[in-house]
Amino acid sequence: MTYAAPLFFNWQNKLETNLLLPLRNVVLLPGITIPVVAGKPRSVAVVESTMLTEKKQLIVAAIRPPAEQKIEASASRENAPDLDEIISSQFSEIESLSEIYPVATLAVIHKMSRLPGGPIQLIIEGLERVKIHDLVQTSPTYIVKFKKLPLLTKKAALDQGGDEQTLEALAQAIKSLWTEAAAINPHFPEELLGVLLSSKEPAQLAYQTSVLLQQGVATTQAILEEESLEKLLRQILADLQKEIEVQKLQGEILGETKKELDQQQKEFFLRQQLKKIQEELGETDPDKQELAELRSRLAEAELPEVVEKQVKRELSRLERVTSASAEGGVIRTYLDWLLEMPWQKQVEDNLDLDNARTILDEDHYGLEKVKERIIEHLATFKLKKLAQQQLTTSAASNIPHSYIVGTVICFAGPPGVGKTSLGQSIARTLGRPFERISLGGLRDEAELRGHRRTYIGAMPGRIIQALHRAEVRNPVIMLDELDKVGMDYRGDPASVLLEILDPQQNHSFRDLYLDLDFDLSHVLFIGTANDLSHVPPPLLDRLEIIELSGYSQQEKLKIAQKYLLPRQINKAGLPDNALQIPESTLNLIIEYYTHEAGVRKLEQQLGTLCRKVAVDYAQGETNPQFIHPERLETLLGAKQFLKEEIRSHSKPGVATGLAWTLQGGEILFIEAVLLPQGENLTLTGQLGEVMQESAEIARSYVWSQAKSLGIDLSVFKNNGFHIHVPAGAIPKDGPSAGVTMITAIASLLMQEPVRNDTAMTGEINLSGEVLPIGGVREKVLAAHRVGIKRVLLPQQNQKDLVDVPADVRQQIEFVFCDRIEQVLANALVNSWEAKSHQNNGNLVVSG
Ligand SMILES: Nc1ncnc2c1ncn2[C@@H]1O[C@H](COP(=O)(O)OP(=O)(O)OP(=O)(O)O)[C@@H](O)[C@H]1O
Ligand SMILES: [Mg+2]
Repeated sequence: MTYAAPLFFNWQNKLETNLLLPLRNVVLLPGITIPVVAGKPRSVAVVESTMLTEKKQLIVAAIRPPAEQKIEASASRENAPDLDEIISSQFSEIESLSEIYPVATLAVIHKMSRLPGGPIQLIIEGLERVKIHDLVQTSPTYIVKFKKLPLLTKKAALDQGGDEQTLEALAQAIKSLWTEAAAINPHFPEELLGVLLSSKEPAQLAYQTSVLLQQGVATTQAILEEESLEKLLRQILADLQKEIEVQKLQGEILGETKKELDQQQKEFFLRQQLKKIQEELGETDPDKQELAELRSRLAEAELPEVVEKQVKRELSRLERVTSASAEGGVIRTYLDWLLEMPWQKQVEDNLDLDNARTILDEDHYGLEKVKERIIEHLATFKLKKLAQQQLTTSAASNIPHSYIVGTVICFAGPPGVGKTSLGQSIARTLGRPFERISLGGLRDEAELRGHRRTYIGAMPGRIIQALHRAEVRNPVIMLDELDKVGMDYRGDPASVLLEILDPQQNHSFRDLYLDLDFDLSHVLFIGTANDLSHVPPPLLDRLEIIELSGYSQQEKLKIAQKYLLPRQINKAGLPDNALQIPESTLNLIIEYYTHEAGVRKLEQQLGTLCRKVAVDYAQGETNPQFIHPERLETLLGAKQFLKEEIRSHSKPGVATGLAWTLQGGEILFIEAVLLPQGENLTLTGQLGEVMQESAEIARSYVWSQAKSLGIDLSVFKNNGFHIHVPAGAIPKDGPSAGVTMITAIASLLMQEPVRNDTAMTGEINLSGEVLPIGGVREKVLAAHRVGIKRVLLPQQNQKDLVDVPADVRQQIEFVFCDRIEQVLANALVNSWEAKSHQNNGNLVVSG
């Protein structure tokens, strides 16, 4: 680039005439040299004519774009035109002056060469700005009349009053921006920067900058037309600044994209390498690898023939689907289940009965009868098993195993008495894994039997899941809470249970998910229930019930000392002797912090104590802690249960009964009052149907015996009765409150109070007989708990007394009655026959 501006010129001179070369898309600035290609006949003629002149000068003018913006866009540097485009677009024929910008450039042709096929290539340099006044000829060449315009030199600008410092500062700013631009762009030619920085004339720097910025036609034309040097510099500075900002931003974006690309390339490269390595190692793609792995698992697993067939079928299905598909996932999960189920695997049973006794004693206090039943059960189990081993004929192998296992035992009793833990002990004695299936609230058959695989998220049922967890086909499975199984539109889980427990059927139990028969006959099922009356009767038929009842205070004490406390101390991570709880404290805990037939809450309370002490130990305490009874309130908080109190029945019409609930035995009071001028019998206290009937029977009996009891008959005519059983929030039912109701009514009508040291239980009929009831042990324990001294029981329940712990038996006087008269004679303080009937009851003073 050279700048050859004549310093002196006369711009006031008259119009000059010269050839015109109209250019499309190009504005030639003074001092700038560019290559152009002329192809159109008239342009070629212009060039040829110029070359014949001495100065080889001509006027170059830009053609106005038809729609300026469009052209500007296509002229932007992103779409740098290639040669063909230049040929066809740079030269156009024009017919009138209005088609070109009148401000144009006087240029000189430095070089001309013909390209093959006719076009001419030129190197031209802009010299001066001119203004075209007239287009005097358009053919065969263009000729214009023009005047030269003043050049924008620094000197001229200063002469016209420009500020040198401002001009200098602007030029300097442009230069430093160029330096910055060169720093950003690693490909910026060093020589170019050199030329720019050494530029002396600010206008030259501006024009060069404009060219380097590859500004569009309209912008460049505006630069050419600019008459103030300062304005020109400011404009160029702003443009350059904007451009650099854009460059910087682009650089950042490009840098980020590049980073991403680099990462992708790296991953691609690593994957290729991994593939190579896998190929070298003979490992192929993951899908095939997985199939191979599944095949080898199939080979290792000892599967029954049917299962193996199924696995193979599924494997070939898996081969056909893509691994990422949902179906592929479903098949894979299914195959996992098939391969992991213990179809054949089992553990050897330990049938040593002495060992069984030791383990049962180790885990549980007392429960002698229960333990004996369990041992009997295990003994039968052992004998049958031995018999089977001796039968080696093929016929024997066809006998379902469950014939040998025998009936299913079921522990029944209140919560926390050790049903579940007995099951665990049985598993321990046999050396089998223990799994528990809680049936509480189960309504959906599919929970037990699984969902067909066609359902999304299908799973095997709980039975198969338990076996899967157990990893052998002969675990002990506890079916917990058989009495809480429900039934609704989703099927009847109880029927599934029947199938599971039926030896005729359970060797081919079909889970809907597995869709294959599984032999459950090796499983030892144990059931538990709180309330047998809620177990579906067909199910009950299959069960061998072993009943457990609540513990007495004394038994609880022993269980706490020997089992619960050591276990909790251990659980809290304390040394064995860390905690010493005297009997008095334990008794307080049992009486005031628990209210239950079992020992679960007791165990929890002891656990709380242990954790409190553990905190002290963790903070450096080393001495064993002695828990005085007085410390209980601080450690366990205020007393949670107030002992049921014996009432002082000074008033006639109140009798103490004994009831049996799921929580164990309870004492209950029955109150009767007369309603003068009333008629009916009103009953309150959430009494069930059977209990309501007992009340009717009681009133009718007293009525029918009014005469012999010395009661005025008019009482029944003129009064209604109200019988209330307090603790109304608890529903009560059962026939065993009959004797208590009669006693309450008789006491009311005879105006004789009932002895408050006496409690009673028994069913009645209209003939005045006292019929036997259940739950003797629980009821007696409840009476003992509150300090009752005498208990009236039906004669036929005398045999049940053996179940009552001896220490309790010794502290209570039992009176067995088979007639109501005996009950009344022993219950009322001043019985009408007290003296004569006193001994009609068969007194048992001690066990
Ligand atoms: N006789 C006992 N000797 C030692 N520990 C016992 C005895 N009875 C119960 N336990 C303990 O009491 C806790 C509660 O017993 P378990 O969970 O077996 O009760 P459950 O009868 O199954 O009750 P639920 O009906 O509520 O399921 C267990 O930690 C158990 O070991
Ligand atoms: Mg349990």
